[in-house]
Amino acid sequence: MSLLEIRGIAKRFGATVALDGVDLALEAGEVRALIGENGAGKSTLMNILAGAVRADRGEMEIDGRPYVPASPLDARRRGIALIHQELSLCPHLTVAENILLGVEPSRWGGGWIDGDAARRKALALLEHFGHPQLHPDRRVGTLPIAAQQVVEICRALAANARILLMDEPTSRFQREDVDRLFSLIRGLAAQGMAVIYISHFLEEVREIADAYTVLRDGRSVGTGETARASDEQLISLMVGRAMGGLFPERVRSRDGEVILAVDEVAAPPALQHASFELRRGEILGIAGLMGSGRTELVRALFGLERGASGRIAVQGRALAVHGATAAQRLSQGFGYLSEDRTREGLALPLSIADNLTATNLAAVSRRWGWLDLKRQWTAAQRWIDALHIRAQDPIQPARALSGGNQQKVAVGRLLNQDADVFLLDEPTRGIDIGSKAQIYETIARCAEEGKAVLLVSSYLPELFGLCDRLAVMSRGRLSDARPIEEWTPETVLATAIGGSTSA
Ligand SMILES: Nc1ncnc2c1ncn2[C@@H]1O[C@H](COP(=O)(O)OP(=O)(O)OP(=O)(O)O)[C@@H](O)[C@H]1O
Ligand SMILES: [Mg+2]
Repeated sequence: MSLLEIRGIAKRFGATVALDGVDLALEAGEVRALIGENGAGKSTLMNILAGAVRADRGEMEIDGRPYVPASPLDARRRGIALIHQELSLCPHLTVAENILLGVEPSRWGGGWIDGDAARRKALALLEHFGHPQLHPDRRVGTLPIAAQQVVEICRALAANARILLMDEPTSRFQREDVDRLFSLIRGLAAQGMAVIYISHFLEEVREIADAYTVLRDGRSVGTGETARASDEQLISLMVGRAMGGLFPERVRSRDGEVILAVDEVAAPPALQHASFELRRGEILGIAGLMGSGRTELVRALFGLERGASGRIAVQGRALAVHGATAAQRLSQGFGYLSEDRTREGLALPLSIADNLTATNLAAVSRRWGWLDLKRQWTAAQRWIDALHIRAQDPIQPARALSGGNQQKVAVGRLLNQDADVFLLDEPTRGIDIGSKAQIYETIARCAEEGKAVLLVSSYLPELFGLCDRLAVMSRGRLSDARPIEEWTPETVLATAIGGSTSA
């Protein structure tokens, strides 16, 4: 008898079939990777297990007994913990309050979860991750996004769980955090916890999971031992066909005219100093650990950091950094993709078409600014096809899309903008491998068309596969930007950790 058994689970949202008969059996102590393209149904399955969504058909059993969770709280009591793909924390509450939300002994519930024990456990977990900013009394909204993810994990584990569901838990993590998380998972599995681990990184899947299950179009299409399957086999199971190269062929471009000159830009305390030049046709990568100041750099350039200082020149025109606003930057030809798509990237209640075309309304309007709905639909459909956005139609609200597909809309929306300089902060977070290739292709085409791209990424293969030059941020200081051939993954890491500016 398995610890968890799922048979024939199906779920539709209106006309969208999210799950179409999923089977899965999980043993105690097992770490199972759940993989598949964006929109394959992974998160929906997790939400059903965690009592947040009700299945239309199918059965679930825990220890051979029927399992029909009435609510997330009910699922939690049955020993299921879910780490959500999107952060689900309350920004105004403290770290400790967030962790203990729904765990505290309640007047009406009868204290089936021990609040004191949960608090002790949560504190121990916080300590395990050892982020200096992770004080239990700190307000969650003021934490960097990686630290918020740690809180999310600690919250899921504060109650005693037997089955842990992790929906892309590392998408906001640096390698160090990943290591800590993996050691935690190994410890929990050794104590008999069963884990379902969702990730778009096959490297991670191989490291942490003994077995995999592939979802495609809402069905389980393959299960096996990770060690016995090649990347190619896994990818072809996920996408239903073999895939070509991940990165586009590009001619390195490093001697276009300087389009953006950045001189001593700072935004203390996170960003101490950054100077570089960005040229037309070039993709300049920025590597660095989470919290090293990378995000603050792009935010400062885009006029989003209040205390920023320094100078920039756009096509030779000197502009102040202090006091600049995002509206000015937009009119000066900047486009910006935030690392936090749900807060700064997308309008979730609006349609996919509205989101995609909002950055370039002139292109889909008639004279006097009337929106031409047919042109808007056509323009949106072009992006939906180009980036393989899995949607019913362009008027679906962005909220109805899977996480990775929302990210694709955010990327499409930005690249649709008629900008000269694109500032991209983690553009492929949460995006499946096939769609990554599509996005790389689109970014490369932008560069080819004479735009300049600043690409902030934690994913080294994409920096090496795409960039012409690379600079590394360490403790708020940016190294010299050097041709990509002069870097190796080791020198990037050494610079990121050690802070030396020489490669
Ligand atoms: N609340 C909803 N309303 C309408 N459609 C939905 C809703 N939630 C999910 N869907 C649809 O169900 C399908 C499966 O989505 P799901 O979020 O489970 O995918 P996923 O495998 O987790 O993808 P990703 O890798 O992008 O996170 C998608 O087509 C999605 O658009
Ligand atoms: Mg998902």
